[in-house]
Amino acid sequence: MLNETRSSSRLRIGFLILVCGPALAACNETDGFTADQWAAIEAMEPLKGPIPADKYNNRGDDQELAKFGQMIYFDKDVAEAITVPGPSGNVGDIRKVSCFTCHGGAYLTDARPFPISHGRSWINTNTGPLTNLAWYDWTTSSGRFDSMVEHGTTVWSTSATPIAQARFLYLKYKDEYNAVFPDTQLDPRLGLTDPTDPNNVYPTTGGPKSSAAAPDGPFEKMPQDAQDQINQIRANLGRAFDAYPRQILTPESPFQKYVRDRDFSQLSDKAKRGLALFVGKAACNECHSGPTLQDNKFHNVGAPGLTVQPYTNATIAPNRGRAGVMQAILTNLTTLQANPNAPLVFNGASKYSDNPTLGMQRLLDVQQQDADHCVTRDPNTNACTLYDQTLEGAFRTLSLLNCAQSGPYFHSGTVNTLEEVVRQYNAGGAPAGMYVGTVDPKIRPLLLTEEEISELVEFLGTLTGLTPTQQAKADLSGMTWDWDKDTSKPPLPPPASMTTTTTK
Ligand code: HEC
Ligand code: HEC
Repeated sequence: MLNETRSSSRLRIGFLILVCGPALAACNETDGFTADQWAAIEAMEPLKGPIPADKYNNRGDDQELAKFGQMIYFDKDVAEAITVPGPSGNVGDIRKVSCFTCHGGAYLTDARPFPISHGRSWINTNTGPLTNLAWYDWTTSSGRFDSMVEHGTTVWSTSATPIAQARFLYLKYKDEYNAVFPDTQLDPRLGLTDPTDPNNVYPTTGGPKSSAAAPDGPFEKMPQDAQDQINQIRANLGRAFDAYPRQILTPESPFQKYVRDRDFSQLSDKAKRGLALFVGKAACNECHSGPTLQDNKFHNVGAPGLTVQPYTNATIAPNRGRAGVMQAILTNLTTLQANPNAPLVFNGASKYSDNPTLGMQRLLDVQQQDADHCVTRDPNTNACTLYDQTLEGAFRTLSLLNCAQSGPYFHSGTVNTLEEVVRQYNAGGAPAGMYVGTVDPKIRPLLLTEEEISELVEFLGTLTGLTPTQQAKADLSGMTWDWDKDTSKPPLPPPASMTTTTTK
């Protein structure tokens, strides 16, 4: 990096001569970077420090619970019939969809072509990697969920309804479930199948109705204790689908070794020039810093949204990001303020949480944000229908760890390569009209040269760490369990009736 000649690097070369010339020893400790630059670089040390404490799940680091989550993560037998055709199967096909179906690449992204994940139906956002997630304060690209625990209470709906999930758990994983949840064991009535048996209170499928105004469905018609049982199972699944991903880390990237061990041979000169741009002219670290290179905030970076569903060409409503989920979060707040024990709210403030005080505080913060940033309210409901530029089109800053392996990019998965990502930032965002709202003031044309664009991409490539399988192979100390392994039980025999029903 010493033979830099481009004008953009003049400043830093100045520093190299002025600071490093006389004080060579100090420079050796920071690989030629100035003290300020090195401080910014150290603030980006991957996976530094302990894994953040689990906010709402006291058992977030319970290995047995994580192993249970891992088992069912891979199991396709849970899946009810596919409702929309796609790469997972055709309409009516059963037992095709596990978590692994969409989160199946080496870094647990969707390894199939196209960004948009198909399970029983389509999900119109990009499947990001399921690695190093414990550092995020909010879950999913819009932060719809206050934790992986809340998200985990609903995520298996990609395969089946809550009642069908409960039936499946009883059928295939009763002993394993009861072993990890000894205080809230499965109701044996979940094993009854004879429809004429008066004790058979559970239908085969169903879940809570979609709104209070909707007519009661199979779920509401169950006795209260059966409803409570299904809700408790969801709460428990939330903990399992929290504990398992918390174990999936990707340590030992070249950049981690570079900063942590000061092993300066880990980065090429070109990658080092990219790093200098990252903390300098391109200022990516204004948002991408900390142990997973993300600031736990929401910004509008002008990433292109999806307008049509790539397979079906169906029109997709513009994704407003954080603005689009504010009302759903606030509805839960209202529900809990009316009834702190509300059975169908599973967030950090709910009765299922291990720290409802913190959960409530965070909901009140969202309420304050709503008050501070709302531009237009519905005169009848008082719900905010339009927010200011801080929330419209703002998405959660994504971790950059392993980003060279986790394309396509952004919440929409519409950008295919890191080079295109950097070009977009260089232009100050995608062309107007391709995204909702206005870009964050930090996003502005960067005036990077072609060579600089390629240097930044080179640096991003040094953020790739080892997957659990690779760690197991490398025999890293402390790696006692392969969290990538499919530990599900063998497939169930085919159901008595394999006839499939076509749903409209
Ligand atoms: C149909 C495909 C599909 C299936 C099946 C699926 N997911 Fe996902 N998952 C997604 C998509 C798409 C996202 C990204 C949502 C977003 O950020 O907007 C996601 C996001 C997540 C996240 C949040 C990641 C983050 O960055 O906050 C977790 C955790 C997760 N999934 C776990 C699971 C688990 C556990 C299962 C099985 C119970 C599962 N997923 C099944 C598609 C799927
Ligand atoms: C204003 C804050 C901000 C700045 C500055 C910023 N980013 Fe981002 N970055 C984000 C946000 C927010 C997202 C997620 C946007 C989305 O999902 O639509 C993101 C996403 C990304 C992604 C996609 C990751 C993935 O897995 O999909 C990459 C790569 C990236 N940024 C690299 C950079 C680089 C390189 C720079 C500097 C040129 C930079 N960012 C500057 C906030 C920022």
